[in-house]
Amino acid sequence: MNQTAPDDPDQFAILATALTRRFGTLTAVDHIELQVAYGEIFGLLGANGAGKSTMIKMLTTLLPPTSGSAQVGGFDIIKSPGEVRRRIGYVSQLLSADGALTGFENLLLSARLYGLHGSESRSRIDDALNFMGLADSAKKLVKTYSGGMIRRLELAQAMLHRPAILFLDEPTIGLDPVARHTVWDRLLDLRHSYGMTVLITTHDMEEAEMLCDSLAILHAGKISVIGKPAELRSGLGDEATMDDVFAHYAGGSIHESGTFSDVAKTRRTAQRLG
Ligand SMILES: Nc1ncnc2c1ncn2[C@@H]1O[C@H](COP(=O)(O)OP(=O)(O)OP(=O)(O)O)[C@@H](O)[C@H]1O
Ligand SMILES: [Mg+2]
Repeated sequence: MNQTAPDDPDQFAILATALTRRFGTLTAVDHIELQVAYGEIFGLLGANGAGKSTMIKMLTTLLPPTSGSAQVGGFDIIKSPGEVRRRIGYVSQLLSADGALTGFENLLLSARLYGLHGSESRSRIDDALNFMGLADSAKKLVKTYSGGMIRRLELAQAMLHRPAILFLDEPTIGLDPVARHTVWDRLLDLRHSYGMTVLITTHDMEEAEMLCDSLAILHAGKISVIGKPAELRSGLGDEATMDDVFAHYAGGSIHESGTFSDVAKTRRTAQRLG
């Protein structure tokens, strides 16, 4: 097991209270209340610009909130950012591995960042490479990797220090179905082997349904619904798909002015679903 298991089993892995982030006049995340239990795979869905990445950046201590608060791994993101960082792993929305280095060298950098040294560092890196199916490619430059291999390398980097909580911002974007399923299998293994909690954002409704225990759908910085995937579907009718759930709760697309015009679309969906 990892060394970061909670002292209090009733504690939440992630607990956000009125968490808010403004950029000028735009409120990107608006008084969000969120509770994620330890061991849960929790999906954050929402249209482009809904506030998912902003939410993750605050929870990973990369961006200060404008107001409100959150605890991650039992520690306050503002008062104890170091304690939070020790307990989390983060895979950003943009590819972050260094193409000019090999997979092994990228992992070595992450190991140093997390304070792992010597034989412990080496064995964790070997474990992570095997776990992610990258042992044979470890000595190749990352710029020769496929997108799926890079994503798996980034997951390996994020899990090296066996974090209690993993934050993954669109981890499977652009991956082919086989690579996507490999990433899902690895995430389920991580939860099974280490009891890891995972907060994941995705635009892939199959991923949301297959992988996530619970989902929150964000719309313009607010949570419009939280529930288990099957409950969210059945709430809209017997025939409803996850795409219907998304269309119903996530609103429409954003205009260039940054305003939403989703009312008509939501009404149409509501009529269609009865
Ligand atoms: N640093 C910033 N400065 C100004 N506005 C920002 C900044 N970061 C995000 N925003 C704005 O905040 C809103 C939420 O952005 P965010 O990146 O959180 O959305 P998202 O849900 O992750 O979208 P996507 O699905 O496209 O990744 C958007 O309107 C975005 O333009
Ligand atoms: Mg994003």
